[in-house]
Amino acid sequence: MRIRKVRLIGFRNYEEAIVGFRPGLNILIGNNGQGKTNLLESVYFLSTTKSHRRASDEEMMMNGKEYFQLDCITENDDGSSRFSAVIHKKGKTFCVRGEPVKKMSDYVGKLNAVIFSPLDMGMFDSSPTDRRRFLDIELGKMSKIYITFLNQYSNLLKNRNIALKKEVPDRVLIDAISEQMVGPQTEIIRQRYHFIQQLNRTVSEYYRKLSGTGGKITLAYESMVAYHADDSILRGLIQNRIANTLERDLITRMTNTGIQREDMEFFLDGHPVKAYASQGQKRMIVIALKLSLVNLIKERTGEYPVLLLDDVLSELDESRRNALIELLPEGVQTIITATEKEAIDPRLWNKAKIIKIEKGSAAEWMNSTTSN
Ligand SMILES: Nc1ncnc2c1ncn2[C@@H]1O[C@H](COP(=O)(O)OP(=O)(O)O)[C@@H](O)[C@H]1O
Ligand SMILES: [Mg+2]
Repeated sequence: MRIRKVRLIGFRNYEEAIVGFRPGLNILIGNNGQGKTNLLESVYFLSTTKSHRRASDEEMMMNGKEYFQLDCITENDDGSSRFSAVIHKKGKTFCVRGEPVKKMSDYVGKLNAVIFSPLDMGMFDSSPTDRRRFLDIELGKMSKIYITFLNQYSNLLKNRNIALKKEVPDRVLIDAISEQMVGPQTEIIRQRYHFIQQLNRTVSEYYRKLSGTGGKITLAYESMVAYHADDSILRGLIQNRIANTLERDLITRMTNTGIQREDMEFFLDGHPVKAYASQGQKRMIVIALKLSLVNLIKERTGEYPVLLLDDVLSELDESRRNALIELLPEGVQTIITATEKEAIDPRLWNKAKIIKIEKGSAAEWMNSTTSN
């Protein structure tokens, strides 16, 4: 999947802009506060219907505007396609080829993008929220059924918590809801387990190439139950776990176990990354993770996602920067931000389209390929 162009109307500091991209490497150059991250955010929004900065829809509307609109034209081996989003204060519409979609699960997964942003460093914080969000968003890109089960589960969880908060909780109702929760949880746990296994296959290799040093990266799944490949055994383990937690749930009047409490942990050579790795190592671990993800999405969907890299060049030294550029697979369209101060290897300029971002407008920069 490649993006040919994006149009932004009333989005952040873009009044109206059309930006064209080339299939391989695209570099957004501009000083701070000009709109580089905003442009990446618009692509990510078209891909996932959400801001990678956790911004609300209204925050993304240009100050003083009532709505924003984003469109993009994509192409792959099957031809071209069009994705649009119109977000008003009172509602939103997402369209594929001009046709509004009814369910978000019919939209998400068609235009996949993977982003690295400095915010991803929150992955190693103490709160598991960002890690679960990572699992859910990335699995949602590859599996429609995952989104469906996740929505089913979160409705059941809401109802179970309401039932637990009643003055006299209805045990029959709680048991019935608990039983319905087992199916979605079995599938979600299975998918999370395989996803983490698959990332583990490649992440150390990317880390090694990026860092220039060794180091084994391991992701450990902290599941509500010990995983078992057999479906009925896994179901049984989940049922037991729910049954064993019921007393506590009745006392605390909330659901204390389930996929909403799961987590994963990162290890570098067997040490917990959170407390052990340096800031630079953490950054390379996250980048390696994102590169593994790009490959996994290709493996599972047949198509590379668009790779969005924000503020990554400024944080890496020259050799790491070059290693990263070398690691980008040939077929992956990449959009990467940079400030003018950063010495970008002139050899790169021949491979890349340089787009100058200034005060919410974008212009193609004359580079060595176009000026010679
Ligand atoms: N809703 C909005 N309306 C208008 N301008 C906005 C809005 N949200 C952010 N901005 C502006 O966008 C700019 C930041 O853009 P950003 O893409 O983060 O910059 P950078 O190029 O450093 O990545 C700031 O000047 C900010 O004032
Ligand atoms: Mg920025």
